[in-house]
Amino acid sequence: MTGASSGIGREFARRLAADGHRVIAVARREDRLRSLLAELGPGHSRLAADLATEPGRQQVAEVLAHQRVHLLVNNAGTAVEGCFAEVPLARALETVRLNCDALLALAHAFLARARSGDALLNVASTLAFAPAPGLAVYSATKAFVASLSEALWAEHKDRGVHVMGLCPGPTATESQPHHDTPAVLVRTPEQVVAAALDALRRRNRPTVVPGAANRLFTAAARTLPRRSVLTVLGGT
Ligand SMILES: NC(=O)c1ccc[n+]([C@@H]2O[C@H](COP(=O)([O-])OP(=O)(O)OC[C@H]3O[C@@H](n4cnc5c(N)ncnc54)[C@H](OP(=O)(O)O)[C@@H]3O)[C@@H](O)[C@H]2O)c1
Repeated sequence: MTGASSGIGREFARRLAADGHRVIAVARREDRLRSLLAELGPGHSRLAADLATEPGRQQVAEVLAHQRVHLLVNNAGTAVEGCFAEVPLARALETVRLNCDALLALAHAFLARARSGDALLNVASTLAFAPAPGLAVYSATKAFVASLSEALWAEHKDRGVHVMGLCPGPTATESQPHHDTPAVLVRTPEQVVAAALDALRRRNRPTVVPGAANRLFTAAARTLPRRSVLTVLGGT
């Protein structure tokens, strides 16, 4: 479970533990992981790792290589906001390293050893289907995650390993409180995770978009001409 120290990831950890899974909670902030484990009770473990770095990814890949993991939730992600040319290149590259490189490396380590019945859940975003001016790098990384997840779903389903791309819309979390988004469009981490785990039980779809408004948004973004989507999102 990556990105378990806050937001959607923390809620995943809580719900999975409540459902009887043994959680390995991964993030950078040890204090947060410690308090999460105190809340979850015995039987769970933590791993402090910076997944935007090669050593951090290696640490988690080692766990996947040596421990039997039935479900990998690739949730850790970050957004870099602002006009692309004005965003520090280091921040943009760090976003790609976390949202794409780390997710890919852990998916690879997990699928190499996965057995029938196991599952991989990659967290993308509704912006995977809508290139967003002002969030250009973020939306591009999430397009990568959604596309990769769909292809891996098809590639691994016949061996009984389910791959799912989760595409939340605006979700009120610490890093993205969405104060300026109309409240009716903002979901809670609890709602997002409940929808994801329900879909994971059914195992019938490669891509899951929680919430009717978000499904409408992604359906429109997938069918409208790209120029129209960019106009709606404020680019032209
Ligand atoms: N909130 C939304 O509106 C929304 C919408 C669509 C998709 N998403 C996606 O949902 C996922 C979770 O987002 P969230 O809103 O729950 O964000 P969040 O509350 O900021 O949580 C992000 C998590 O990722 C971890 N993380 C960040 N950088 C890391 C790094 N370099 N190495 C290891 N862990 C790292 C953070 O832990 P540490 O800081 O302790 O490392 C934290 O646990 C992300 O992939 C995000 O893109 C969010």
